[in-house]
Amino acid sequence: MKFFVDTANLDQIKEAQDLGVLDGVTTNPSLMAKEGIKGDAAVIQHYIDICNIVDGDVSAEVIATDFEGIIKEGEALASLHEQIVVKVPMIKDGVKALKYFSSKGIRTNCTLIFSAGQALLAAKAGATYISPFLGRLDDISTDGLNLIQEIRTIFDNYLFETEILAASIRHPMHIIDCAKIGADVMTGPLSAMTALLNHPLTDIGLEKFLADHAKNQ
Ligand code: G3P
Repeated sequence: MKFFVDTANLDQIKEAQDLGVLDGVTTNPSLMAKEGIKGDAAVIQHYIDICNIVDGDVSAEVIATDFEGIIKEGEALASLHEQIVVKVPMIKDGVKALKYFSSKGIRTNCTLIFSAGQALLAAKAGATYISPFLGRLDDISTDGLNLIQEIRTIFDNYLFETEILAASIRHPMHIIDCAKIGADVMTGPLSAMTALLNHPLTDIGLEKFLADHAKNQ
């Protein structure tokens, strides 16, 4: 399972990269705004800065919602750096753009996936990744994990190469559950990733090992 961090915060991206288990980064317009990145030039520079920190894929989202606009923006984003993956919304013109990008060898991440049908359409259009938003489904009392399972079954039935990128991850159990289902990638906050480190028996055990070692000095 690949681990992506879902943030535009450079310090957090560096920390995740230093941990040694990071495979990529996802961003979106809300995450860029949270970091105060304003204006096209600043946004472009920020994507390049992220690419220079991480070794893996970096999702950069288009703002346009019409086919021509998505193509223009997506091609410009893809030309910034070989690690850039163009993030395209799950709308009609987005699906057409996924097909176009696929034919041009430009990698894509279809975002805002909330149903198995949307995932199937995006995979047929040749998306590299699809991003079902697990946490946001849970927020409205819908079973987000069930959606990941449905998509896994469909993709396995037809051997789609599109990777399931479980997004809107909120906590470490989302990561474990997605790994059990077989999501190819998870993207979430650094806190969910580092929470996987913790177990009280590890802390108690280490404390005893160190205390016993000190007694023998
Ligand atoms: O990658 C999509 C993700 O940013 C959405 O997460 O927490 O805003 O639902 P969230």
